[in-house]
Amino acid sequence: MANTLVRNPPRALGRVVRGQPVSDGAGVKLNRIIGQRDFDMLDPFLLFDEFRSDRPGDYRAGFPDHPHRGFETVTYLLAGRMRHGDDQGHSGVLVPGGVQWMTAGRGIVHSEMPEADDGLLWGFQLWVNLPAGEKMADPRYQDVAPERIPLVQVARGVEVRVIAGSFGNLVGPIRGVATAPVFFDLALEAGARIDVPVPSTHSAFVYVYEGGAAVGLGADTQVLLHGELGVLEAGDRVPVATGDIATRMLVIAGKPLREPVSKYGPFVMNTPEQIVEAIRDLQSGSFSRR
Ligand code: FE2
Repeated sequence: MANTLVRNPPRALGRVVRGQPVSDGAGVKLNRIIGQRDFDMLDPFLLFDEFRSDRPGDYRAGFPDHPHRGFETVTYLLAGRMRHGDDQGHSGVLVPGGVQWMTAGRGIVHSEMPEADDGLLWGFQLWVNLPAGEKMADPRYQDVAPERIPLVQVARGVEVRVIAGSFGNLVGPIRGVATAPVFFDLALEAGARIDVPVPSTHSAFVYVYEGGAAVGLGADTQVLLHGELGVLEAGDRVPVATGDIATRMLVIAGKPLREPVSKYGPFVMNTPEQIVEAIRDLQSGSFSRR
């Protein structure tokens, strides 16, 4: 069968989306790219925010106690410090280059508060859906310090931090996640190029957070600029090339769940009845207990 020898095509760039400025938590200003009115999800991703400000008034109020049920929150920090604490005794401080992958499962109530009240706070939060069978699982944290994330030069002028998934022989520290996620942070110098491996089974996107780069191949090549998210079409790798400017981008992918989604704020379940149950559990005080 000659077909078994044919590689999947490289991924082309599909839809390009720019974020919307929103205010969330107790008044934190951020840029919402997935989870906005015109782009409400990219299965299994429910939300993707970038927060970046050196004006304390934009972030100081933080995210005081709030619940989550039925999905995972991923926080990746580039600058500043964020203190996390929940109702089950888990706490810690996220530092630049660190990641927290929190599987909320049946529920936690937590706070996420900037530690300093001056300087730059910059990072991302991604919400990843859980399959029906894991929505009521025990909560779980993967708190990953920066030094545990492999940082490797994979081609001339291209460095990658592998947070989740595999890039060649490099394997990221995040394990045991239902959607088998890929989460790469790439730094490209001017005039660099690389094929980024992305499993053909996954939904995938690129988000450029500094500079700009050509993404895709041939007639499908488009330049994705700072602040733009590009949804990737089918294939098993995405060609990326920079022109005159150094560029930083995230490449994120996950296996789609293809299940019904019923969302209400911080609850993401399969049916409206499960949302009502979540609200009732929160009101009765049985939310995050068995
Ligand atoms: Fe949260």
